[in-house]
Amino acid sequence: MRRVIHAPSPTVEIETQRTFSTPALVVDLDTFERNVRAMSELLEGTGKSVRPHVKTHRTPELARRQLGGSARGVTCATVGEAEVMVAAGITDVLLANELVDPLKMDRLVGLAHEAAVTVAADDPEPVTSLSTRAARAGVTVGVLIDVDVLLHRCGVASAAEVLQMAAVIDRSPGLRLDGLMGYEGRLRPGVQDRQAKIGRAYALLAETRDALLRAGFAVERVSAAGTSTLLEALTDPTITEIQAGVYALMEPELLGMGLPFSCAAAIRGTVISRHDDRFVLDIGRRVVGVEYGPPLSAGFEVTSITLGDEHTIVTAEGPPPALGAELDFIPGQIRTTFNLHDHVWVSRGGELIDCWPISARGSSQ
Ligand SMILES: Cc1ncc(COP(=O)(O)O)c(C=O)c1O
Repeated sequence: MRRVIHAPSPTVEIETQRTFSTPALVVDLDTFERNVRAMSELLEGTGKSVRPHVKTHRTPELARRQLGGSARGVTCATVGEAEVMVAAGITDVLLANELVDPLKMDRLVGLAHEAAVTVAADDPEPVTSLSTRAARAGVTVGVLIDVDVLLHRCGVASAAEVLQMAAVIDRSPGLRLDGLMGYEGRLRPGVQDRQAKIGRAYALLAETRDALLRAGFAVERVSAAGTSTLLEALTDPTITEIQAGVYALMEPELLGMGLPFSCAAAIRGTVISRHDDRFVLDIGRRVVGVEYGPPLSAGFEVTSITLGDEHTIVTAEGPPPALGAELDFIPGQIRTTFNLHDHVWVSRGGELIDCWPISARGSSQ
């Protein structure tokens, strides 16, 4: 199989002979494409766009397939992810994270020669440094003021701080104030006061946007929300852009939220040992993220699943599967699962049709 592996620079073409072997990460492309289509149908007529968060899979071949229609660019969590996406030909990236390291600022500014680049910010000091670097390089970087709407992670907390930030960005050469960003985090079903939390988050976005508009600043974009708050974000009048990522591959925990998405990724393992009371597969925590619970068996009933580093011990009613049988498990946590693999296999109609590099795997800087 001839593959082009995109490194940040230069692009290296290499020849790989890849044969399938387990444990392997497999994406069902039909389901993935259905999820992407369902997202664009949800957005139709809302005037909003999606900017898929690629931290979910760090895979340019998947990211490219999420673009089109109102989805003009991607969201990234790290400069490394942005570099890989731009090297793969994506021309519009939002770094939805704060930058203070001058070296990373230079890398981001470098990307602005090839792509539309926007970054989140919550402090005037790094904004000033970024401005110097962008102006020196002769590029313009868009800035979204990050508002702490719920997580108490990054972000400014009041309209007064937003106005102060806006004034600094506005007078900074090389920068362009594009609007606001607020990420309310994963609000699973059953989270206490879920609706009230979402309501307060979106009220703060509206209040800060209005303060900017009253002060005469343009607010082109209000970027927010993930998969778990997608339905609320779609009806919110302030949000213009949705940063969801998990929707395209989905996680079992979010299946009960009334979203039109299905799980598209699985870890395929082989039965390597069987006994009267259990059987064992070659899947372990080194190939599947378990932060949101153990993987779910796909297409067969189990009584219990216990994971070690390289083993999954399964108990089930009835006779165990044959030695060498391949079984699929749906990861509870997509992001960490993808970051544990170099490649993702691609299937259509149950047949493996391709194998793509997870090129931004490990690109956490
Ligand atoms: C800032 C930001 N925006 C958007 C998302 C995407 O949310 P989800 O993965 O639930 O779709 C994340 C995920 O962690 C995030 O950190």
